[in-house]
Formats: sequence, structure tokens, C-alpha cells
Amino acid sequence: MVESSWPQAEPYRIKVVEPIKLLSRDQREKALERAGLNPFSLKSDEVFIDLLTDSGTGAMSDNQWAGIMLGDESYAGSRNFFNLERVVRDIFGYPFFLPTHQGRGAENVLFPLLIEKGKYVIGNMHFDTTKAHIEIAGGRGVNLVRKEAYNLDSEYPFKGDMDIEALVDFIENKGQENISFILMTITCNSGGGQPVSLENMQKVREIADKYKLPLFLDAARFAENAYFVKKREQGQKDKSIPEIIREFFALADGCTVSAKKDGLVNIGGLIGLAEEQEELYMRAKERLVPLEGFVTYGGMAGRDMEALARGLYEVQEEDYLAHRIGQVERLGKKLMEIGIPIQKPVGGHAVFVDGKTWLAHIPQEQFPSQALCIELYLESGIRAVEVGTILAGRDPETGKNVMPELDLLRLTVPRRTYTDNHMDYVAEAFRRIDNRREEISGVRFAYEPKILRHFTARFARV
Ligand code: F0G
Repeated sequence: MVESSWPQAEPYRIKVVEPIKLLSRDQREKALERAGLNPFSLKSDEVFIDLLTDSGTGAMSDNQWAGIMLGDESYAGSRNFFNLERVVRDIFGYPFFLPTHQGRGAENVLFPLLIEKGKYVIGNMHFDTTKAHIEIAGGRGVNLVRKEAYNLDSEYPFKGDMDIEALVDFIENKGQENISFILMTITCNSGGGQPVSLENMQKVREIADKYKLPLFLDAARFAENAYFVKKREQGQKDKSIPEIIREFFALADGCTVSAKKDGLVNIGGLIGLAEEQEELYMRAKERLVPLEGFVTYGGMAGRDMEALARGLYEVQEEDYLAHRIGQVERLGKKLMEIGIPIQKPVGGHAVFVDGKTWLAHIPQEQFPSQALCIELYLESGIRAVEVGTILAGRDPETGKNVMPELDLLRLTVPRRTYTDNHMDYVAEAFRRIDNRREEISGVRFAYEPKILRHFTARFARV
């Protein structure tokens, strides 16, 4: 590993390159008009640097690509399934494993077995599809992340932690019989990629035991979380990343994982279940077949299972994680040096820009972070995503726009895909916008879909 006083050189060299092109300003304007000012509707060829998501957008290693050639595409009993099963047992310590096509597939299989109609699922902060699957299963999602998560300037090191007092109060108030289970998301994506401490997880386990509630992990970014624990949590620095991961998973009854993040693959997911969960495993297996596919592939090709088995080991390497987390942090620092308000500390997979504060002249009803997304693309060909008022949608009862406290733009960094020079380009785009940010105008809906409006909406300038 390169010592910290040296520039953080990528811990890999590049064997294959994928050309990307920056369209002219005129071409970008036309593309964005066609897309209804919604970057989701751009063609990827129209994007220069794509920071829409870190999900399924990373680069695989030569070792993973070699694994692709060893794909066993047998419908039943693929050898890659057994390889992956062995890896899941080794890394997470769970004897029971089911593959799924991606994270939400795992949620769809597992949640209806855990949720009873009208009951609560308490989380630090649920991801959107997770919340949707809780609701589809008849449950009610509740977020009880500690309050520092909502303060962008708080440097609290574990802003993904559950508010333990609020958790106890909630259970006491609603009654333990009205709660289906507890779900800890590591790292907390909707809270800005902020980590959960091991100590907090231990406390949540104690409470889960006291009230006899199942405790699960939504573990899309489990390795990034473990790295933060090692670097930031007292008493953890001498443990290895695999040890910390093991400890975390040992505190839960099972997990759902989107492998598109820390699995270092482009598609895939899984369910893992602890030893005591054999009955749940048997029931999940029955649901897996009609929903995802036979038990030894669950929506994944044999070759993809092999790539995942290898990715799950690579992601735990400390020099990889140091570079990964370091790259996101360096981008955050560069933006701060220019004076751009961002969430602190910088999260594991993304930098969150406070659009509402930076473009304070745009009222929240005119979607400042969406306006910023549009401007960023026009200025530089960079695609980012709004995580704010548009995403929050409307109150189903009043029909009014929900006005979330935070209105942010997410710059999500794919794994092993872009270099620090790309990140410098991103920072430069912000510097140029900063000089004339007061000229940026807000937007309104030209077309507003009824559900999940952010994906397909069209906008017009105010
Ligand atoms: N849980 C978390 C914490 C996630 O971040 C995601 C996806 C999922 C579950 C669902 O997994 O996409 O494989 O079905 N997050 C992506 C994102 C889409 O952009 O943050 P999936």
C-alpha cells in the first residue's frame, strides 16, 4: 500500500479503455432539450463523465473477466453458484445464500416473508426501492437515523448510525407487536453514503434482542462501511477489513445485497441468512423460483456469479478501498476549496452538493438542485442526479409537493472507472458555474408522472 504522504496512485493499471467524447455546447443544448431538461433521459453517448450512479457502473478486473470465461450456464447446479456460495459463507459467515438479479430482487423475495400488513420496518434510512418494497409488502418504512444526518455541516463520523433513543421510544410507543423488523443500511445511501459504526450496530442488536425483533442488513456498500469503521472508530484500527465485515454480519439475522456496488459487478444481488434462519431460507427459496429463477442462478448468468465471487474478495482489499474512498474525498475537498457547499464529511460513494444553499436565489419550489444538474451538463457534459424536492414527490394525502429539508445534487463516483483527472474536470466545471451562478434560473414541470416522477419527468425553465 502507498503511504499516505505520497500521491494516491491508482492501485491498478489500465488494460482496456473505453473512449468517451465531449459533445459541443450546441449539441449538448439540443440533447438536453430533447431530454426535456431531465438528465435521466439523455443517451449515455451524450454524456462525457457519468456520475448518475455508482450502481453497476464500475469496472471489473482482469481476474473477474477471466472468471467470465469460466461461466457454467447449466440451468441447475452451475459450478459458479457453488463458488459464490462458498465465498458468501466465507465473507459474511452466513450458511444460507440465494442469488438474485439485483438488490431489489432480493427485497422482493425476502420482505413479504418478514412483513405483516400495517406493521413498521424501522431503518436508519431506507433506500427508495427498499421503501417501495416495504410498502408493496404492506409494511410501513420508518427512518430513525441520528439527527446529525440532517445537518450537512456536522462532521460527526458515523452519520449513518441509528438514533438509539428514538428507536427505543418508537418501539415502546407503537408496541413491539407492531414492528416487523429492523433494517440497517450500510453505508447509509440516502443519508449521503455515511457509515454505521460497529458500536451502533451492537446497540441495535441488543435492542432487537430485548424486543425480539429480527435485524437485517441492507449491505450494498458493506466494504466501504468497514473501511470507515477501521479508519474512524475507536479500537477498530488494528482489525482487518474482513474481520470487521464478519463482525457486522454476525450481528444481523441476514442481509439483502445489491452486488452492483461493492460486489464490483454490473448486475447481481443476493440474500444471505444466518444459521438460525433455516426456516426463513426454505420459504425464501420457494419464492425465489417463480420470482427470480431457479435456486442456483436466481436471475444471474453463471458467468456473472463467477465475476461476483471474485469481486467480493477484491472489494475488501485495503489499497483498493483507500483509493476508492480517497478519490471521492479528494473531489469533495476540491469543491470545498472553491467554496461550494457540500455535505460533510464526504460520504463513501458520492459527493452531495447543497444546491438549495448554493443557488439560494432559486426558491425550493423551483427545484434548485435540478436546475444545477441542467447547468452542470450544459457547462461540462457531466451527468449528476438530483436528490431533493423532485425525488421526494408529493404527499399522497394532500397532493402537495413534499419540501424536504435537504435539496441536493449527487455526484456519484463509479468504482475503478474514472481517474483523478476526471475528478479535476468535475471540480473545474463547478468553479466556472460559481462565477455566474446567480444567472441560473429555476425550473417547473412540463410533464409530471404520477409515480417515481424523477425518472421520466420533463421540465421547462421558469
Ligand atoms: N439498497 C441500497 C442501499 C441501494 O443503494 C440500492 C440501489 C438498492 C438497495 C437497490 O439495489 O439497484 O441493485 O436493485 N441504489 C442505486 C443508487 C440504484 O443509485 O443509489 P438494486
